[in-house]
Amino acid sequence: MRVLVAGGAGYIGSVVTAALVADGHEVTVLDDLSTGHADAVVEGARLAQVSLHDSAPVLADVRPDAVLHFAARSLVAVSQQQPEDYWSTNVAGSLALLEAMRAVDCRRIVFSSTAATYGEPDQVPIREDAPTRPTNTYGASKLAVDHMLTSYAVAHGFAAVSLRYFNVAGAAFGLGERHATETHLIPLALQVAAGQRESLTVFGRDYPTPDGTCIRDYVHVGDLSDAHLLALSAPSAGEHRIYNLGNGTGFSVQEVVDAAREVTGHEIPTVDGPRRPGDPAQLVASSDLIRADLGWTPRHTDLVGIVRDAWDVAR
Ligand code: UFG
Repeated sequence: MRVLVAGGAGYIGSVVTAALVADGHEVTVLDDLSTGHADAVVEGARLAQVSLHDSAPVLADVRPDAVLHFAARSLVAVSQQQPEDYWSTNVAGSLALLEAMRAVDCRRIVFSSTAATYGEPDQVPIREDAPTRPTNTYGASKLAVDHMLTSYAVAHGFAAVSLRYFNVAGAAFGLGERHATETHLIPLALQVAAGQRESLTVFGRDYPTPDGTCIRDYVHVGDLSDAHLLALSAPSAGEHRIYNLGNGTGFSVQEVVDAAREVTGHEIPTVDGPRRPGDPAQLVASSDLIRADLGWTPRHTDLVGIVRDAWDVAR
């Protein structure tokens, strides 16, 4: 298949690009490299350094059979301070991409949505029919694109899948997280172990959880990649499917720190800080729907293994 991967120079997009190339697909990465890295694009894939807003000529040239769309701004805190960047890149950029697809009659898309579309859940594990009440602009911008895809499926015959990621972690194809501004727990803990930071701040120990720290659902980027390949051919024209992607087990911040200590052999000093605004106590996915519909089965459900894979490429 001829596939265009928007955001294929980023963490998750680069892993999926590598998987697509390994499967024999013809892949073009569209990425403006504002947060991605050219050297994360595997050999065998072509890189077009272009923003979503200017994607039309690239699509006209490539004429893809399908698009995988990872390109986005994704920092929750920044989205509260600079919402314009999130509405422009995530929403207007996605609209430009969908219009560029329509212009070349490409109507198959897999979109990177997020657990942040749900906001504070009433029930855990979170199912796809849970209410969507995002508590930040990042989540709202991703939800807007989910709505966009529903209407493009109905009105224009798009075959679309939104994959709502929970906490993506680990590494595959030698590709891991490499953000200029790192906010995620596992890479930050590993930076302490690598001697790049003195300590890790634990944001709140007074949550209503067994050890008082927040619980999250860490899903391995290799499992996430498998889900994209399955999703690519799943929907028919006129269908927009939404699937959660998590491994279904929650781990606390303290358990992540303990796993990082075990993997690295470093003591990883921690400092107790206040709660981070907007952090729900517990976010765990029900991924029953994608398991039932597409036969997706995560292979890396062990936290220590996930952290070890991240550590192997971080060093
Ligand atoms: N945490 C710390 N210290 C840190 C960093 C994080 O204690 O230095 C805690 C957070 O408070 C949270 C947990 O570790 O409880 C995980 O935090 P991350 O920042 O790694 O991930 P989030 O759960 O905040 O974010 C993830 C995705 C977002 C998505 C969000 C949905 O990375 O893209 O889930 O709520 F928006």
